[in-house]
Amino acid sequence: MRLCKRSITLGIETTCDETGASVVQNGQILSNIVASSADIHQKYGGVFPELACRRHILAILPVIQEALAKAQVTPSDIDLIAVAKGPGLIGALLIGMQTAKGLSISWQKPLIGVNHVEAHLFAAMMETQQPPLPALGIVLSGGHTLLLKISDVGEYEHLSSTVDDAIGEAFDKVATLLGLPYPGGPQVEQLAKQGNPLKFSFKAGHVKKSPLSFSFSGLKTSVLYAVRESTPADYPDIAASFQHAAFSDVAKKAKIAADRFGAQALFVGGGVCNNRRLRELMQETFPSPSCPIFWPKPELTLDNGAMIAALGERQFLKKPLSEPLDLEVFTRIW
Ligand code: KG4
Ligand code: ZN
Repeated sequence: MRLCKRSITLGIETTCDETGASVVQNGQILSNIVASSADIHQKYGGVFPELACRRHILAILPVIQEALAKAQVTPSDIDLIAVAKGPGLIGALLIGMQTAKGLSISWQKPLIGVNHVEAHLFAAMMETQQPPLPALGIVLSGGHTLLLKISDVGEYEHLSSTVDDAIGEAFDKVATLLGLPYPGGPQVEQLAKQGNPLKFSFKAGHVKKSPLSFSFSGLKTSVLYAVRESTPADYPDIAASFQHAAFSDVAKKAKIAADRFGAQALFVGGGVCNNRRLRELMQETFPSPSCPIFWPKPELTLDNGAMIAALGERQFLKKPLSEPLDLEVFTRIW
């Protein structure tokens, strides 16, 4: 089956703690429904995989039904089913994958698997008709911290990742140290607004012989020691200094990577790119209009089905083949 101009794709996302479903037509988002289980993970300070799975099971069909209803389409209108196949939590991924396969069989629609990390970048690429290439891709999420060289949609060269915590994970752990609820990124950003980013001289890690790789676990430990020796009155300064150290490191490494191959643009994706301070710092680091920075729309920064549907649609246009029904999920990207 080939997609035509009016083709409609259903996208399904269940890699972590968000159950997402979206209907996309030719890159236009007709609906984008997300049910998060973040509330039940709060007391653990991070995602509790088994609980996330239970919530996916409860949410997946209602979320899909709502996405279809909001887009005012019925199953017979759908031309393609796109599903996040990884990386993510194994149990969570399987729920989305099995649902997508079941719908593909019963509705007799082609199925396509989409890489969740690529979809985060594609969310930023959707902001321009003609992505300037080659570009630097930066994924900053709860599960990933990556730099990639993008030669085209689907053509990536991995430049570096984190050797320990992902940047969003570090925000979530620092939030717990500061007594803030999960997910901690937005809370740390809020608290940091009242603090002095230069009060504590925190630094993100340098990885020997791998200057573009990231390491945030030492930074997190420095925050732990600072918290132990401080009172809550110092917490805004700790939050601001942590945020400054983490983002300065991202900006510095992004600049080295972009200069190395002459990036024509930057595409940034993942939940952490909601952060205003990150956006300001990146803009300061890349002031030239000849290397613009593209960010996803706010509703596409966190995990969602729309980025899965949109990238699935693009992949299927390029190669209109339904995946075999033994398509597998995967937990790690590299
Ligand atoms: O992309 P995402 O939904 O999940 C993964 O694919 O992992 O990102 C979630 C992460 C969480 O760690 C959350 O704390 C972080 O993004 N985050 C932020 C902000 N908003 C969300 N981190 C820093 N500042 C923010 N404003
Ligand atoms: Zn994600």
